[in-house]
Amino acid sequence: EKGGYAHFMQKEIFEQPKALRDTLAGRLDLESLEVKLPEIEANLSYYQNLNRIFISACGTAYHAGLVGKYLLEKLVRIPVEIDVASEFRYRDPLIKEGDLLIVISQSGETADTLAALREAKKRGARVLAVTNVVGSSVSREADDVIYTWAGPEIAVASTKAYTTQLLVMYLLALYLGRAKGSIEEKLYKEMVQGLKEIPQKVQEVLDAEAKVIEFAKKHLTKEDAFFIGRGLDFAVSLEGQLKLKEISYIHAEAYAAGELKHGTLALIVKDVPVIALATQEALFEKMLSNIKEVNAREATILGIAFEGKKELAKVTDDQIYLPRVPELLAPILAVVPLQLLAYHMSVLRGNDVDKPRNLAKSVTVE
Ligand code: F6R
Repeated sequence: EKGGYAHFMQKEIFEQPKALRDTLAGRLDLESLEVKLPEIEANLSYYQNLNRIFISACGTAYHAGLVGKYLLEKLVRIPVEIDVASEFRYRDPLIKEGDLLIVISQSGETADTLAALREAKKRGARVLAVTNVVGSSVSREADDVIYTWAGPEIAVASTKAYTTQLLVMYLLALYLGRAKGSIEEKLYKEMVQGLKEIPQKVQEVLDAEAKVIEFAKKHLTKEDAFFIGRGLDFAVSLEGQLKLKEISYIHAEAYAAGELKHGTLALIVKDVPVIALATQEALFEKMLSNIKEVNAREATILGIAFEGKKELAKVTDDQIYLPRVPELLAPILAVVPLQLLAYHMSVLRGNDVDKPRNLAKSVTVE
């Protein structure tokens, strides 16, 4: 049942190219390079006239939502608010008719996410669910549903659900951006072409697994790790640190790189592992100077950037280079080495990878 893999998590990490292909199928017209979302088309006028978008989800799904917020604001130019679902309902949110709540949930059964959905509906907003389970509570109660076609996810740590959730966020932002005329034609075409190629690019990142194992071995006995990035890279850093904590039991924190010097830099000492993401061109120089700050404290740094970014090697100990895609798509690639890092750390430390302590796959209590 694990198809030759040692653990479900490993199988699910390696299934990502297929999960992405399945989630794209029928939604990307490969001839005309247009995004199609019949799930939304039926109520397009509501979507075209949105005042505000809210996103609510838990854990990894929340991290996919953070990328979604960034994309929707950038490409659709509608303000987006995002909360973890366990906070949304209790803050008396200013959501009403004319607004949209997007809930993201692999299982479609997470109690807090379901409660957020009900709260938004009660206040008159429309709810769009992004979920992996047909017939789940979330899918039944939402007004509209876009399924991720990741297939069953068994390991407690979410991997292929996350990357397919990201993919749906891209499709949605491109679709709505097109419908509203808020996205430039050139960027639209570049991104659609990029999405078409993304399953293959993920495969290329998976093929670089050995590099990650090497880094994991070097840091096996460490008890703390830091993930830094800016913009989309910060959102991915949050997912990377959660994965590492959850299954390797290493204390990890993600920081917006520019925020480090406001306190956390005090914890960056000799040999502390720092994973630095630098995929965004406009922020690259700024990231390099943040990396230099941690390098000066003799941290051991793994840098992640697109191929060709040679400067990275001068300020980091190890590097993972991602194949080129339009840079807004970087999160789908950049998270893969972070998933592999958490996985291998967990295996090497002898943990129960698929069933980490204290955690359940589906959290149906609030
Ligand atoms: C982390 C993880 C959890 C879930 C969260 C939400 O690897 O799996 O953080 O993402 O419990 O679950 P769903 O998506 O089922 O609502």
